Amino acid sequence: MVGKSVLYVLAIASAGVAQTTTYQAESATLSGVTVGTSVAGFSGTGYIEGFDTSTDSITFTINSTTSQLYDLSIIYNGPYGDKYTYIVLNNAGGSQVSLPATTAWTTVPAGQVLLAAGSNSIQIQNNWGWYLIDAIALSPSAPRAPHRITPTPVTPNANSDASALLAYLASVYGSHILAGQQDPASLAWVTQNIGKTPAVLGVDFMDYTASRTSRGAVSSDVDSALAFAQQGGIVTFCWHWGAPAGLYDTPEHPWYSGFYTDATDFDVAAALADPAGANYTLLMQDIDAIAAQLKKLQSAGVPVIWRPLHEAEGGWFWWGARGPEPAKQLWRVLYERLTNVHGLRNLVWEWNSVAPEWYPGDDVVDLVSADTYAQGDHGPISATYNNLLALTNDTKIIAAAEIGSVMDPAQLQAYQADWVYFCVWSGDFIQGGTWNSVEFLKSVYSSEYVLTLDEIQGWKSGNASSLIRGKAR
Ligand SMILES: *[C@@H]1O[C@H](CO)[C@@H](O)[C@H](O)[C@H]1NC(C)=O
Ligand SMILES: *[C@@H]1O[C@H](CO)[C@@H](O)[C@H](O)[C@H]1NC(C)=O
Ligand SMILES: *[C@@H]1O[C@H](CO)[C@@H](O)[C@H](O)[C@H]1NC(C)=O
Ligand SMILES: *[C@@H]1O[C@H](CO)[C@@H](O)[C@H](O)[C@H]1NC(C)=O
Repeated sequence: MVGKSVLYVLAIASAGVAQTTTYQAESATLSGVTVGTSVAGFSGTGYIEGFDTSTDSITFTINSTTSQLYDLSIIYNGPYGDKYTYIVLNNAGGSQVSLPATTAWTTVPAGQVLLAAGSNSIQIQNNWGWYLIDAIALSPSAPRAPHRITPTPVTPNANSDASALLAYLASVYGSHILAGQQDPASLAWVTQNIGKTPAVLGVDFMDYTASRTSRGAVSSDVDSALAFAQQGGIVTFCWHWGAPAGLYDTPEHPWYSGFYTDATDFDVAAALADPAGANYTLLMQDIDAIAAQLKKLQSAGVPVIWRPLHEAEGGWFWWGARGPEPAKQLWRVLYERLTNVHGLRNLVWEWNSVAPEWYPGDDVVDLVSADTYAQGDHGPISATYNNLLALTNDTKIIAAAEIGSVMDPAQLQAYQADWVYFCVWSGDFIQGGTWNSVEFLKSVYSSEYVLTLDEIQGWKSGNASSLIRGKAR
């Protein structure tokens, strides 16, 4: 039942020598799985196989003398292809861990776990199943080294608004998180029902381009952004960019879902490959339409956290449908056109994919970010945070650009998951009660770690740091 390891290894960590403790799976509590010995090379006296139904699990019981953060890894074998498993600490939350196909016994990082003083459980749950588990290993996490951010926008001669915004984000990064909310109506709901107003408003350039406005779409998101900035808030725009041509516009794939890969045959790679072609011209016309809106914001002194081509790596939007190269190319085309043709100087460029092969480059990115939806899980999303840290070697500030369930501020601090802001998606994600209860949201919004609109006043003039100190008292 209790799997205290017989095997201790010394691992060299950058901060010095850290002890790794290995816990054999065959000594843990098994449910619906069995001990195997036929695949050679395992440690201990066997490994665990038979993950084939959803309730199958291994539960490790681990004593810790103190409350401490550990790096967790899994030693597994994957002869049946790429799989996922699910790790749950102390019966709460959990995180998915990828187990790539391998016929060797392989150690894979599985994120961090904050062990409580006393007895803890770490459970491996089936998820996709069809993998072999030899053991897990825990080593104390090294304290996070100081971030290595240079808070100067990548835009040459960025204006003072953009510079102040990035400098302000850098000043709170690692010590606080800005509360954010997508959509003006949902933000108003927060004010009314939670009693505090988010510091960040998320809005969308979706309904400003020809393939949508020509079909009757209208938007007031730019007006909402101007009004929120007037109240001293920070605005972030994404862009559900409807494909400029090739919309199926059928009952299954209506024109208004035209940002989805499966709603259009628009080929981003082909369009970019022919700068003299009609489809390239259509892309430029859409960019120019958005530039006109961004200029309104620039003229009003409003800097924008600008998050185009979001979730490219998912492939479900047409800009990511042809793999990383066209997506990165389009990012640079967009950057060049907005910066050099349109002269925009108020943008803070936020990239929104995690995989290194999708990253456009340090010279055209100010912030990196990810979108994560895990219903009811208020964990710190630390594995994704750590992947984003690795993506830029900790040289760019990191944001949780879209979330469903809000992270628990205490866990954010314990895991050193220093997301600079979170932005909850609109409608049911914030109001429905299943992703976030009102009670939980009230605790988040009253946390000293979480900054709200009233607490960031003066950020542009560099005055907000005094307000943060005021809050910490
Ligand atoms: C864990 O601690 C409990 C008491 O707190 C003890 O009974 C048990 O033997 C310990 N288990 C291991 C594996 O050290
Ligand atoms: C432009 O894109 C549309 C939609 O995918 C496609 O039907 C058309 O052939 C493309 N035009 C050119 C010149 O490639
Ligand atoms: C990351 O930054 C550290 C500190 O400057 C440096 O020693 C290391 O080589 C960098 N790693 C990469 C992969 O660039
Ligand atoms: C900072 O705040 C103080 C007090 O509210 C105010 O007097 C001062 O003018 C502000 N400084 C700047 C640079 O806005």
